[in-house]
Amino acid sequence: MTQLALLGGEKTRSRPFSPWPQYGETDRERLLEVLESRNWGGYPFPNRWADEFGERFAAHHGARYGCALANGTIAIVAALKAAGIGFGDEVIVPAYTWEGTATAVLDAGAVPVFADIDPDTYCLDAGSASNAITPRTRALLPVHLAMRFAEMDRLVELAAGHDLIVIEDCAHAHGGEYQGRGAGSIGDLGCFSFQSSKLMTAGEGGVAITSRLEYFELLQTLVNCGRASVSDRFKQRRVGSNYRITEFQAALLMGQLERLPGLGERRARNAAALGRALAEIPGVRPLPPQPAATREAIYCYVFQYRPGEHRPARDLVAAAIEAEGVPCDGRFYEPVYRSDLFRPTPEEYPQWKAGHTGHCPVAERAAYQEALWLPQFVLLGDERDVEDIARAVEKVASNLEALAKASPALAGVKSMSRAERPGIEKRNY
Ligand SMILES: Cc1ncc(COP(=O)(O)O)c(C=O)c1O
Repeated sequence: MTQLALLGGEKTRSRPFSPWPQYGETDRERLLEVLESRNWGGYPFPNRWADEFGERFAAHHGARYGCALANGTIAIVAALKAAGIGFGDEVIVPAYTWEGTATAVLDAGAVPVFADIDPDTYCLDAGSASNAITPRTRALLPVHLAMRFAEMDRLVELAAGHDLIVIEDCAHAHGGEYQGRGAGSIGDLGCFSFQSSKLMTAGEGGVAITSRLEYFELLQTLVNCGRASVSDRFKQRRVGSNYRITEFQAALLMGQLERLPGLGERRARNAAALGRALAEIPGVRPLPPQPAATREAIYCYVFQYRPGEHRPARDLVAAAIEAEGVPCDGRFYEPVYRSDLFRPTPEEYPQWKAGHTGHCPVAERAAYQEALWLPQFVLLGDERDVEDIARAVEKVASNLEALAKASPALAGVKSMSRAERPGIEKRNY
């Protein structure tokens, strides 16, 4: 049996994967055009590129309006405020997500209430969300996580029954479709991030989409220092702040949107091949297919570590796959209520009271024992890349005994917690 790279053996792969982000000549031309226009900022609002991008992005996802803004976290804060969520209101969020989903709720003045996730999609579980509803609940905030959609049909029905707003966190779901409907256009509002690792990026950036004019007008007011929206039909006035996007970002995003369908198809094709290969490897399990996802968006490829008893910890398995030359993370997310990036105090957030934590067993299992995350750019190449990934996983899976034996010596090799890492180190590009 070949020795694992983590234990001193040879790596399965030493070539880098596809570079990310991707760009082309048109991007260079657009950026130069913005540069030479001397019109760089977000003001006057909405500036030329930001306006056109917001409209195109919304149309691409089946919504009427799109407000491009500074980042995905602010998109959620603005969407919550636009939907009238305010001080002390409860918003149900999945426990397994990026901490920003929940901190955005706090920043909007509301209280995030954690519900558990579905074991096969890792997205908000409708039953758990239903159990979390109280008389103070005002909204559901499902996240379409990694490569799967939250079960929107059940969540929308649940919301209708309790008069709740639905805001979709689509930071991972650019270009995806659920039952033929674009991500972010199924609920009342949808929020996207364009941070560096995302399926479309301008380094930073975000957008909130909706088909309701009153929400769109409020979004514009909130991100543009309280000024009137362009159409101002509803004459809404609110204290706002400056969350405008720059013209450089918006011009770059235009190219990212053009490139999205082609790259999305390639990822989906490679993900399907990888799923077939992983299904043959004992000790791991690909997430089951999701027929309701009529167009997949794969931000990260997630699969599950399902060893028998007395096996090495998941974090060690992630480190072993990584050592084989395939970027892999175990503790990509933690249940937010346990994360050291989420320690709100009542002094900072008076709406947050002791006891607003949670216990979500499926999220805990995913976070600490089961989930293995591969970044999307490993799926941008061809079948040889997929074969290398499968060979690396297979090598690790067939060396679990050796890994378990070595594990006392490898005690220091574990995924760092979110606060320990200054940012995920990006290898291979
Ligand atoms: C699920 C989720 N929600 C929200 C965000 C926030 O986006 P941003 O980093 O652009 O503020 C991110 C991205 O980091 C995310 O992954």
